[in-house]
Amino acid sequence: MRVVVAGATGLIGSRTVARLRDHGVDVVPVSRRDGVDVSTGQGLDRALRAAEVVVDVTDAPTRRQEAGTAFFTTATGNLLKAAAAAGVEHYVALSVVGADRVGSGYFRAKAAQEDLVRHTTVPYSVVRATPFYESVEAAATAGTRPDGVHVPSLLLRPVSSDDVAAAVAHVAVGPPLFGVLEAAGADELRFEDFTTELLTSLGRPGPVIADAQAPFFGAVLEERALLPGPDAHLGHHTFAQWLKSR
Ligand SMILES: NC(=O)c1ccc[n+]([C@@H]2O[C@H](COP(=O)([O-])OP(=O)(O)OC[C@H]3O[C@@H](n4cnc5c(N)ncnc54)[C@H](OP(=O)(O)O)[C@@H]3O)[C@@H](O)[C@H]2O)c1
Repeated sequence: MRVVVAGATGLIGSRTVARLRDHGVDVVPVSRRDGVDVSTGQGLDRALRAAEVVVDVTDAPTRRQEAGTAFFTTATGNLLKAAAAAGVEHYVALSVVGADRVGSGYFRAKAAQEDLVRHTTVPYSVVRATPFYESVEAAATAGTRPDGVHVPSLLLRPVSSDDVAAAVAHVAVGPPLFGVLEAAGADELRFEDFTTELLTSLGRPGPVIADAQAPFFGAVLEERALLPGPDAHLGHHTFAQWLKSR
């Protein structure tokens, strides 16, 4: 089986390439470094030649709604066009839990990407992941204020990038779902509790303030907006293990 991975140099892409190779797959890693640009379409036809599966784990350079939507609709449009022309049998896109219900910010951009995937002629699967542990860390860093760390007031089940890559690879080697698989982490806690654990592990404990107006991925979210459904595929790596392994 030949699988093209678009976004192969990224956090998830590099791990997905490794997991696919564990499955014994012939992987074609693709990124701008390999002369393939999903925004312009340059190099795509050649890269997708003889591919059976395409995995899209590219990301936009911004969390802003308009620019993110422009990136994902253009990139996904180019990838789907090349996939259809190459006779690809399965297209796998990585999206975010909440893309179907949040309606603003980065989530709107991912919903636009999902719409294109759902309406293509190429058989497809969508994997929706909860926020990665790295995103919890980035939000905590960005929320540092003189009176403490301000984080969004949310319940979260964040996930390790290794668990997301394993889920994406698992879906890619299987039949198209014509639907969604949710990938989420082992623990559910409030955002401020994950942040407290993070700061403690960094040796700088301090006040963590849950702020209902603090945006996450460019959107102010309802408390349960990012929780997966009951059928989510739960990862094995806990937040505590991830903190220890850094
Ligand atoms: N962050 C989260 O918490 C979270 C949660 C759920 C789902 N997701 C989804 O996970 C996916 C992957 O995220 P990530 O963190 O792994 O991203 P990342 O580390 O930023 O990697 C992005 C990849 O996209 C490639 N790329 C960007 N623009 C490109 C272009 N014009 N042409 C070709 N390749 C391009 C980059 O390659 P080069 O720059 O080397 O070309 C890189 O390989 C995203 O779609 C995101 O929506 C993220």
